[in-house]
Amino acid sequence: MTSGFHILIVDDEPNIRSGLAKGLTKEADLIETAGDVNEALDKFDAGNFQLVIADVRLPGDRDGLDLVALVLERRPETTVIVITAHSTVETAVEAMRRGAFDFITKPVDLNLIREQVRIALGHHRLRTENRTLKDRLADAGEISGIIGNCAAMQDVYRQIRQVADTDATVFIQGESGTGKELIARALHDLSGRSCGPFVAVNLGSLPETLLESELFGHEKGAFTGASRQKPGCFEQSRGGTLFLDEITEIPAKSQVDLLRVLESTQFTRVGGEELLSSDARIVSATNRDIQHLIDEGTFREDLFYRLNIVPIQIPALRERRDDIPLLVEHFLKHFCQRHNRPAKCVADDAMHVLTAAGWPGNVRQLRNVMERLVVTVTEDAITAEKLPAELRPVAHSESNRVQTLAEAAESAEKDAILTALAAADNHREHTAKALAVSVRTLHYKMNRYGLH
Ligand SMILES: Nc1ncnc2c1ncn2[C@@H]1O[C@H](COP(=O)(O)OP(=O)(O)OP(=O)(O)O)[C@@H](O)[C@H]1O
Ligand SMILES: [Mg+2]
Repeated sequence: MTSGFHILIVDDEPNIRSGLAKGLTKEADLIETAGDVNEALDKFDAGNFQLVIADVRLPGDRDGLDLVALVLERRPETTVIVITAHSTVETAVEAMRRGAFDFITKPVDLNLIREQVRIALGHHRLRTENRTLKDRLADAGEISGIIGNCAAMQDVYRQIRQVADTDATVFIQGESGTGKELIARALHDLSGRSCGPFVAVNLGSLPETLLESELFGHEKGAFTGASRQKPGCFEQSRGGTLFLDEITEIPAKSQVDLLRVLESTQFTRVGGEELLSSDARIVSATNRDIQHLIDEGTFREDLFYRLNIVPIQIPALRERRDDIPLLVEHFLKHFCQRHNRPAKCVADDAMHVLTAAGWPGNVRQLRNVMERLVVTVTEDAITAEKLPAELRPVAHSESNRVQTLAEAAESAEKDAILTALAAADNHREHTAKALAVSVRTLHYKMNRYGLH
């Protein structure tokens, strides 16, 4: 469908049709004509007209006044101007009553109708601007900007709505990049605590020595460098929500401390004696297989029970492929606006690849890919060949040769590293974490496979 300002002219007299069409060429991007109501409706339905100019007297059993109603019934935002040789007040009133924008008498004064068309065009622009604004607001209105329509996501929304306004402790599980932090924020925004603070702390990024002070705060002089008293996350999130991200990463000792604080809601700052309390609502998250960590003995089962009052599981992107086109369009629009690029579209072949890709980095990876495409592709349409190689299916050129088991294991390992690197945008720490190895091991393997 072409965009722009399209006019449909409906009159039974060929001379008037062609005269009007010629006279208005400069005002429109496309002009089509029809001789009666049926032809007009066929063309209207097939096209994208913002303005219809219709004669009242038309052959057949339906006239121009009927057409006004029929057009507006189909697309209420259309502007309709009615023309008639029988300029009577009654016809004018009836046309306006049915929703016509204006009324013009024959013989048509071309200058006058041009003026009307320009006014109609102004209205059209205003309306489209209003609509895109409304679309943006509607996007923001979807649970704090969470995109996804599939059954599993609907289920997630239902759970969010169900528990948001309670103080129940929520445990969010999902692979890296599935939107756990987004969901934690949604829980906060939809709760009665939304005016209070939302405090997020990434427990995976804190060295053990700082963890306690970060969570519970410290008194002045509690340790070298503690030049003044500092409140911790529990204190800062009073009246709000405390998001404990990457909860599985905290060391055994801190697990015990955390459990005690969660059970008593009381704590002291490091180096302090004053017993403080916090009413913060606790939301925690992990992208690791927590059951495995419990079985292994690295994560305390009692702490897990305390955190896992309401579990929310977010599906991986590859488990909800139906949502991929939606996300693609969303990020495309978002980044075109953000980077001041003209609107782009995604060609069918590209959408096919995007929908079929593995997305180990989930929505975050998709978001990064779309941003890169918006910035780097200069054409209007994003075609499959513009997509990063990591998304395209791997060609198994050597697959006929029998591999040794060791070779097979190495090649699988190499593939896994490449995929994880791509998913994390080459961020080494994130890649190592996703692969559940240390950064050192990752570097060692990358050297070994020549992946630098
Ligand atoms: N359903 C979604 N709709 C729109 N944006 C999303 C959605 N899910 C994730 N995102 C976006 O993807 C990015 C990653 O999301 P988020 O940080 O919440 O992931 P995460 O699950 O916390 O990942 P990690 O485990 O790596 O911390 C963010 O920019 C977020 O806004
Ligand atoms: Mg996160």
